[in-house]
Amino acid sequence: MKSSSKMITFLLAATLFNAFASAAPRQEPIQPIEAAKVENPAKVELGKKLFFDPRLSRSGFISCNSCHNLSTGGSDNLPSSIGHNWQQGPINSPTVLNSSMNLAQFWDGRAADLQEQAGGPIANPGEMASTHDLAIEILRSIPGYVNEFGAVYGNSKIDLERVTDAIAAFEETLVTPNSRFDQWLKGDNSALTKAELKGYELFKNVGCVACHNGPAVGGNSFQKMGMVAPYETDSEVEGRSAVTGRDADRFSFKVPTLRNVELTYPYFHDGAIWSLEQATDIMARLQLGRTLTKAEIDSIVAFLKTLTGEQPQFKLPILPPSTPATPRPQPFENKPAG
Ligand code: HEC
Ligand code: HEC
Repeated sequence: MKSSSKMITFLLAATLFNAFASAAPRQEPIQPIEAAKVENPAKVELGKKLFFDPRLSRSGFISCNSCHNLSTGGSDNLPSSIGHNWQQGPINSPTVLNSSMNLAQFWDGRAADLQEQAGGPIANPGEMASTHDLAIEILRSIPGYVNEFGAVYGNSKIDLERVTDAIAAFEETLVTPNSRFDQWLKGDNSALTKAELKGYELFKNVGCVACHNGPAVGGNSFQKMGMVAPYETDSEVEGRSAVTGRDADRFSFKVPTLRNVELTYPYFHDGAIWSLEQATDIMARLQLGRTLTKAEIDSIVAFLKTLTGEQPQFKLPILPPSTPATPRPQPFENKPAG
């Protein structure tokens, strides 16, 4: 009797210990993404409207969501984006999901943060092709926006700083927590299959994790594309050297996040590669000097697919209507606006 109750106590303690141990977060080079903490919901709502508002473009047709479609992983699934007048963009559109974690914005890091970045596309002639003055004039002519800026900022002044501040506040909520990999990181042993776990071990052991690490599994350093062997591309983009002026930074890019990478094809700055298997094979050869077997590639890809998190869920914003005083869209006009 005595010994069996001891046994029960022991079993109970062991079970509790196991439950505790399996719930403890793991120490890994990749950390889980936490859900967004919304401090100012009214500002986020305003930023969401601006993100979806095509009136920030000269054509009245292109919004941020056109090229960073939140129904398709925050990117456009095109090799390079389509801008004003059906212009072909020079570079692949990176996802806006988890972009708040980037050390800087754009492939070459030329914008320090999301607010600085957001002014760029509005006035970029190859993207939304408006001017900051015109975009602000349009917003000021829309009573619904005047009221909403007033409610968020204390007075109804509308300027570029407030527009980009609100867009950035919305973008900060575009995080994708609770992927199966994050569940595993947080201690849930059943979240990954054996094959996926093997893929993660391989991802670490062959050295992918040297550049793809941290909560975003990338986004936190600039690295040369083609460390061991050159990458063949038709793209004329030069990378980080365009910002630093240093020859050593030629063909160096911000390491892309691998979060939701299953959704954000095609891959690389030129968007030339459509499959994760091929992207993994190229990475292993060009960055690490390793030729992986098909089984190894499949295994790493199985792991990469566990990085797909919960996509941002919200009601589609209904935009305040224009008035007769609102400057008209110019969808088929080539002359600069204004
Ligand atoms: C015509 C397509 C297009 C439109 C419209 C557009 N973008 Fe982009 N966006 C891109 C491309 C292409 C890049 C990459 C450019 C580069 O790195 O040189 C980019 C980069 C970004 C980045 C940086 C992400 C990273 O990982 O570096 C953010 C954030 C972003 N855009 C947000 C926005 C917002 C906000 C708007 C609306 C105000 C917007 N974009 C409108 C195509 C577009
Ligand atoms: C030396 C740093 C480095 C290493 C090591 C590395 N990568 Fe990359 N990875 C990059 C850079 C830089 C890019 C962007 C290259 C470009 O677009 O030209 C990239 C891009 C990618 C992409 C495309 C993402 C996208 O959205 O376009 C995938 C997938 C990827 N890496 C997976 C891997 C895997 C798997 C490994 C290991 C086999 C690996 N990487 C090793 C630096 C690295």
